[in-house]
Amino acid sequence: MSAPLSPAPPALFPDGSTRAGIEDSLTRALLAAGERVARGGVMPTLDRAALRRELAQFDFSQPRPLEELLSWTIERLEHGVVHMNNPRYFGLFNPAANFPSQCADRIAGSFNPQLASSGSSPAPVEIEAHVIRAIAARAGLPAESTGHFTTSGSEANYTALLCALTRAAPRFGEEGVRAFAAPVAMYTSRECQPAWFKIVHQAGIGREALRLVGTDGRGCMDLRSLSAQIASDKARGIVPVLISSTAGTTGAGMIDPLSGCAQIAKEQGIWHHVDAAWGGAALVSERLRGLLAGIERADSITIDAHKWFATTMGCGMFITRDAQVLSETFKVAAEFMPSSVTQLDPYLNTVQWSRRFLGLRLFLSLAAAGWSGYAQHVERAVAVAALARQRLLACGWQAANDSQLAVLCVLPPPGYPTIREIVKRVLASGRAWVAVSKTEGREAVRICITHGETSASDVEELVAALEAKA
Ligand SMILES: Cc1ncc(COP(=O)(O)O)c(C=O)c1O
Repeated sequence: MSAPLSPAPPALFPDGSTRAGIEDSLTRALLAAGERVARGGVMPTLDRAALRRELAQFDFSQPRPLEELLSWTIERLEHGVVHMNNPRYFGLFNPAANFPSQCADRIAGSFNPQLASSGSSPAPVEIEAHVIRAIAARAGLPAESTGHFTTSGSEANYTALLCALTRAAPRFGEEGVRAFAAPVAMYTSRECQPAWFKIVHQAGIGREALRLVGTDGRGCMDLRSLSAQIASDKARGIVPVLISSTAGTTGAGMIDPLSGCAQIAKEQGIWHHVDAAWGGAALVSERLRGLLAGIERADSITIDAHKWFATTMGCGMFITRDAQVLSETFKVAAEFMPSSVTQLDPYLNTVQWSRRFLGLRLFLSLAAAGWSGYAQHVERAVAVAALARQRLLACGWQAANDSQLAVLCVLPPPGYPTIREIVKRVLASGRAWVAVSKTEGREAVRICITHGETSASDVEELVAALEAKA
């Protein structure tokens, strides 16, 4: 007879009533912390040296009670992060996470499904595919379009480049760039999100393959420069493979001429991707979706639900009309997998293998709010940006962009401190969070509306913080 098994460690696998008690108090503690965060400063107040000293005591030799650890963690985060949950965070495109997506994280964490294959996770794979089809349809892509959730917009953009390379040279999958007769190039505007520099490196085509096309003075890709750059590359024997237009530039929320880029891509026979990581959420609004006209012609699209859709981090989407190229790009044989369904199983169609159930976040958010609830969310953000613009212009500031999305770039009146100094002072005050951005080579203060509940008085506080001269 073998010796009886030891019990599972209760610190890792507590019983049901212990779990319920801890979860209840965790919920209450998080709610209370959230209220303090919304009322308090935006910036971290953490003493890093003190935290390192505390961390040094975690040598993990003695177990500690979980309740104590949870309180410790909440307190450190309350003081140790820039608060996207504060309605005066006018920051990078990181949202205050909506509640349905937080619920989704609890459910996904609890069942912990493995989304690599439909064999092990039939329900999650179907739910994700359904959401992708709904967003693809909203963008006007054909019914046979497909895609998947990614951890980030960068992963989705990387996927677009791999698809473009695979379609451009069927032997790319086997031979890499040697499948091309000459060096390749991809095109995006000089206002693009800089992760593209890493993406061309990652994909093995090299940073020199990235062409930063000139803009029109307003921050949008200039079509004549795009055509000229492609023609000059072709004359030198270089092979163009991808145009990536941006729908909502990172610096100024501008939208490239999507139809014009699609047309050039079609004429040249190259892949057209639309990086709508942030701006893509405008598709939910009948009033705003026309701004993205032309997106329906794209070969592929990136949209991050963890930006303007306000789900928890990171929840990107890659959507494409070309299911076959996507499958060709990520094909692999693995007999041990519970299923191998081409064009369905995520491990056969994506960069990742093991996968979290990310899509539940957007499924629950969309299902709970409907398109109309989301339209209210994005239209409200645009209205907040308009209010901030109106208030700052009344104080003598100048607008440095004319985005119709929820991004405002502003320049101070003469005699004010420099942009960098103003931003530094606002952050030091903790009253609000804004960024320095550069658009068309000129620096400005960027105010991005990312919190779903920013109020008029929060805008007043922002204006006061920007105006404070001391
Ligand atoms: C236009 C655009 N594309 C891509 C990205 C990168 O997305 P992620 O941070 O999810 O990788 C960003 C991030 O702000 C962005 O603004």
